[in-house]
Amino acid sequence: MAMARVHAKRSRHHGLLVVVVLSAILLLPVAAATAAAVAVAEGEGDNRSSLGATGNEEGKMVSGAEPGGGGLVVEDEFAGGFGSLDSMLQWAIGNSDPEKLKENAADVQKLSTDELLKRRMEIKELMEKLKMPSDADLMKIAIADLNNSSISLEDRQRALQELLVLVEPIDNANDLDKVGGLVAVIKDLNNENEEIRTTSAWVLGKASQNNAFVQNQILGYGALARLVKMGYATSTEEVAKALYAISALIRDNVNGQDAFCSEDGNAMLQYILVSNNIDIRLQKKAVFLVTDLADFQLNSGKSGLPFLSDRLFLKSLVAMLSRFDLDLQEKVLLAIKSLLKLPSTDAADFESCNLDSVLYRLGVQLEELASEEQKEYAGEVDDLRREVQMLFQSKLREGTRTAL
Ligand SMILES: *[C@@H]1O[C@H](CO)[C@@H](O)[C@H](O)[C@H]1NC(C)=O
Ligand SMILES: *[C@@H]1O[C@H](CO)[C@@H](O)[C@H](O)[C@H]1NC(C)=O
Ligand SMILES: *[C@@H]1O[C@H](CO)[C@@H](O)[C@H](O)[C@H]1NC(C)=O
Repeated sequence: MAMARVHAKRSRHHGLLVVVVLSAILLLPVAAATAAAVAVAEGEGDNRSSLGATGNEEGKMVSGAEPGGGGLVVEDEFAGGFGSLDSMLQWAIGNSDPEKLKENAADVQKLSTDELLKRRMEIKELMEKLKMPSDADLMKIAIADLNNSSISLEDRQRALQELLVLVEPIDNANDLDKVGGLVAVIKDLNNENEEIRTTSAWVLGKASQNNAFVQNQILGYGALARLVKMGYATSTEEVAKALYAISALIRDNVNGQDAFCSEDGNAMLQYILVSNNIDIRLQKKAVFLVTDLADFQLNSGKSGLPFLSDRLFLKSLVAMLSRFDLDLQEKVLLAIKSLLKLPSTDAADFESCNLDSVLYRLGVQLEELASEEQKEYAGEVDDLRREVQMLFQSKLREGTRTAL
């Protein structure tokens, strides 16, 4: 009966259960662990005597590993489990008390490799006994929630957060579209709640990272247009996740980069680069994206992305070198270094931005203003500055030679 209820209910708060089950299994012989875990799963975890009934100190260890009557929460919230050890551990790590984890880890370290291996097998068997739903099942449950327009915002956010973890393994990401996941998440990019939009962008970024198949699926749904618009949002977190998703979508992907241009993504980047009142971390992300795109062109020999050699765009970048932030200055220097190497950029354009004198002033500033603790870092940035200066000079000479 309990199992039926378990399967009928939504998957919530797996983390606590996982910690309980893991603690139990790692510390107990399999029979007792099974009994304890089943007891927890069946909602009897609140009955201390059922654990104590093993009558030996191992019973106490379970109580010790899971103090404070957590069984009650587990009873109500338990709705399944995990198809793979990896996803189970991911949940456990993402959802548990770090102190408790540390304690448990210390206990685990006392076990030999053989014992650990045996425990692993036991966990596997136990999970099969408990008929843990697979990641695919969990994804379906989360997506069904996203599909349901009458669900609360809180549940929607939770469903997205579950997907965030579930899409990390590449096989899961590849399956997302089959169950309507991409459409559902893309739809939530337009949710009126900022947090929902932000998490949706995050999920899309996670799912498409280093995955051309999913990149192209998401691009096919036209999500990039919406993500570019999100780049103008007022919430730093929303812009950060939009930039993250855009970077993941167009990285090493010519289709994505073309779409980025046709959606005026460059205007959005430029907006971030020149804004004075924007969080500097967003500017760093934008600069990093520029470097990534330039490096892709360099390494692939593909052209495209005309904005990378646009004079006004280069000017916004060069102007950022006058900001007093070493980390930003380093990132901008790296971007300019890559851009100088691109055949499509014109040395004369950098010259018209006064790159020479900006680099000179930066050198003076790095020497004079760096505080004691930043001396070493400032030295590294200065080396990079020299490198950029040399690249610029040699590009200028080549430009002159071509012109003659
Ligand atoms: C607790 O477990 C004991 C022993 O199994 C049982 O006799 C008792 O009825 C249980 N109490 C509750 C509240 O379930
Ligand atoms: C979500 O809705 C879409 C579109 O109506 C549908 O194709 C998909 O199967 C649904 N997915 C789930 C898991 O309910
Ligand atoms: C949609 O969510 C509401 C509120 O949680 C729930 O009552 C309803 O059963 C759900 N509908 C479906 C089709 O799951």
